[in-house]
Amino acid sequence: MKKESGGLFEKLLETQQIFKNREYLRPTYIPDNLPHREEQIDQLARIWVAPLRGETPSNVFVYGKAGTGKTATVKYLMNELEKTGDEVSRKIEVIHLNCEVVNTKYRILATLANELRGKIQEKDPDAEDLPDQVPMTGWPTDQVYSVLLEILELEEQIVIILLDEIDKLISKGADDVLYVLTRINSDLANTKTAVVGISNDLNFVPQLDPRVVSSLGEEEVLFPPYNAPQIEDILKKRAEMSFEEGVLDDAVIRLCAAHAARGHGDARQALDLLRNAGELAEQERATKVTTKHVTKAFHKVERDKMEEAIRTLPEQSKLVLLSALLLQERKARKIGTGDVYDVYSALCRQNGLEVLTRRRVSGLISELDMMGVLNARVISKGRYGRTKEIELNVESIQARAAIEDEMYVKDLNSITSSKQEKLG
Ligand SMILES: Nc1ncnc2c1ncn2[C@@H]1O[C@H](COP(=O)(O)OP(=O)(O)OP(=O)(O)O)[C@@H](O)[C@H]1O
Ligand SMILES: [Mg+2]
Repeated sequence: MKKESGGLFEKLLETQQIFKNREYLRPTYIPDNLPHREEQIDQLARIWVAPLRGETPSNVFVYGKAGTGKTATVKYLMNELEKTGDEVSRKIEVIHLNCEVVNTKYRILATLANELRGKIQEKDPDAEDLPDQVPMTGWPTDQVYSVLLEILELEEQIVIILLDEIDKLISKGADDVLYVLTRINSDLANTKTAVVGISNDLNFVPQLDPRVVSSLGEEEVLFPPYNAPQIEDILKKRAEMSFEEGVLDDAVIRLCAAHAARGHGDARQALDLLRNAGELAEQERATKVTTKHVTKAFHKVERDKMEEAIRTLPEQSKLVLLSALLLQERKARKIGTGDVYDVYSALCRQNGLEVLTRRRVSGLISELDMMGVLNARVISKGRYGRTKEIELNVESIQARAAIEDEMYVKDLNSITSSKQEKLG
């Protein structure tokens, strides 16, 4: 008799493990070793030693491109600061807000008040005379501000307000909160606050109220992009903790670093690539991660990015792309811009949407070409003029999922069957 499940588990147990602990490769892990950020750590530590001496630290603006270690470095330093504060008996509180998530003046003030209140309760569950918890909507903003002041004044302390992705406040029209936060000390007697803003958008500062710029930018710390050898160092440290011994060779790390350095020196991208390569090796039950896995993972990551780009396209571009997809799925032969336009206009009519002109649609096709979603090759049709032949660069299932085509394609047959006869 053949062995049933027993054999299966034995086989799985025997297979070589790739990861020791993949959590160390995830963005949520805050490393306490940050190679090539020594200068930035030193600059920031000089500013943030102030509260340990009982002085108010300057406001700081931290900026640099995506994946240059801004969030990781600042969080690491804030943890150290709170720890050392406890040791020297100074009350230092750090409130970390991500402005991508908390992005209105009301919600920022309310979250600050509630988090500070929570910290007091955590230390003293019987604390009395605490102001009420602020609801997430409904109060006049002035009242929220008063509660925040009241809570800040309960104890003598230094509060650091960390606003990560601070540039997101501009697009939400909430940057007036920065004026309030950078002036709050003039309303306080016991407590002092400082603001730390983090941004990867360098165009953010010129859009701010000049009064905010001068107070937020008391100190500025730049995080430059990493080069390939620096990313290699970062990856090596993280890989030691997350992969089993001997499953990675140097060439794998070098290739991940080279890919990321060819972009803009983004450590997050390099770490994602390494993790994906490891996961592919694991799925294949390979005993080692090789450069082939990295290349495969690179293509996967690129495909994911493409999917995201499609998902965020304007509706009309999605419809143009969907038209080309529907044609490609039904027809083996080349698709022309005219065919796309016919299906596109039928789709628009079925969905009660405006039908753009041929010229506009042709422009959208060129944009999709530039994004790399499709190739549009100009071909001459002799005396009938020129047209474009379209070939898609994305997998159909993936693209349709990103377009959320079920929203648009209600009656597929009536759209493509008439076309098919014509094309036939
Ligand atoms: N010097 C470093 N050493 C170890 N890990 C690093 C280093 N720099 C960045 N990382 C890691 O790279 C990833 C991205 O870093 P981080 O989130 O700090 O970037 P960021 O500058 O805040 O980017 P964004 O502007 O997109 O928010 C994280 O997983 C972080 O732990
Ligand atoms: Mg960040």
